[in-house]
Amino acid sequence: MDNVVKEFTDKVSSSVYKKTFVKLILAKRVLENQEMNKIVVRYVELDGQPHLQFVYKYNRNDVTKNFSVEEAITQLQAIIGSNFLDINLFTTKEDIELKYNNKRVPKLYAKKPTFTEAADGEHDNTKQRRIDTKNSVYLKSLGITDNKGELVPSMSAKYKQVEKFVEIIDSFYDCYKDCKPLNIIDNGSGKGYLTFATYDYLTNVREMNVMMQGVETQENLVKFGNNLAQKSQFSGLKFVQSNINDFKADNVDILIALHACDTATDDAIYMGIKSDAKLIIVSPCCHKQIRSQMKITENNVLEPILKYGIMLEREAEIITDGIRALLLNLNGYKTKVFEFVQYDNTSKNVIITAEKGEKPSDEERAKILNQITTIKNKFGIKYHYLEKLIENPEDQSWRILNPQCVREE
Ligand SMILES: C[S@@+](CC[C@H](N)C(=O)[O-])C[C@H]1O[C@@H](n2cnc3c(N)ncnc32)[C@H](O)[C@@H]1O
Repeated sequence: MDNVVKEFTDKVSSSVYKKTFVKLILAKRVLENQEMNKIVVRYVELDGQPHLQFVYKYNRNDVTKNFSVEEAITQLQAIIGSNFLDINLFTTKEDIELKYNNKRVPKLYAKKPTFTEAADGEHDNTKQRRIDTKNSVYLKSLGITDNKGELVPSMSAKYKQVEKFVEIIDSFYDCYKDCKPLNIIDNGSGKGYLTFATYDYLTNVREMNVMMQGVETQENLVKFGNNLAQKSQFSGLKFVQSNINDFKADNVDILIALHACDTATDDAIYMGIKSDAKLIIVSPCCHKQIRSQMKITENNVLEPILKYGIMLEREAEIITDGIRALLLNLNGYKTKVFEFVQYDNTSKNVIITAEKGEKPSDEERAKILNQITTIKNKFGIKYHYLEKLIENPEDQSWRILNPQCVREE
């Protein structure tokens, strides 16, 4: 056996016995296009004895096997170099990478530890929480957790939004559990808080094979996201620099958007409808497009109330999101609209969930269309942006290509 491999596997076993082991990831499969491309090794205690759990990541599913430490070391020595060429050991003392060069010569690289807490060995511990804060590379890089894996107080509101959003996605598990792979698009992904957390949860806790894309116009955020996805070894996650309008989406199963500015939420919903997504979940941002058209005539009974700016603002939100839900119904989606976090977390706390169902009958369609027209007439609204997208997607003349946020968190 190669001395470098022996040195590396000695470090693995000593980290387990010294309780500094966090996790081990075997990547860069020797033969490409293999069904199984990665192995993630975790520490588990079984009958009070230390074991290593190998999670073999296949394209369509994962296979889990538990080994005693000695068996695990034998396994590793058999596959390192012959099957995998980039192996990362994370311990609380240091991170060690064993990497093979083009000539297949292995070399060890030691780096500062990414994690400060060792794995506690509780079997299936991760299933207790949706988003594991302790050993997360991405939460730390996003500034949500500190070196100890504790939540950074100023980021706790964002964490809560993301955690709740993921919980809501999970509540629809039955509707997408058979999608292999599961294709998800996060529109207006920004820095990727929701994108990373959703991918992490569905891949590592639900153990699904996920192909996820974050769509974002800002180049720096896209670069940041792709670097972090690589660092986190999230091979099915990528960020694409594109306007939602221009993005060609194929086989979308789930479409999500968290606070995509103004009509970008409509672009996101439309992408979901157009690609027949099983699930569309959006938490809208600002509501300028409808607000700018709303007129309150003197004979409108609501005039004495809507003369106050804040009331008109809230009414614009209600109408914008209410019509979005009706348009989703019109296109065969069952909708729910509710507050997903408290108002003091964010004022943008409304979420719309839409699950693909039966197409409405002609009679039901006529009824919904009539309801939308009546609401628009009441407030002098010429058109709802989503309505235009659905009716006339080819026409670019009225498109808002770069919607801006008018409300800050
Ligand atoms: C308020 S941020 C929200 C980011 C992220 N979803 C989150 O919750 O942290 C909105 C993001 O949407 C992006 N965006 C706005 N309009 C867009 C469009 N038409 N296409 C793609 N991205 C867009 C912005 O650049 C920005 O990063």
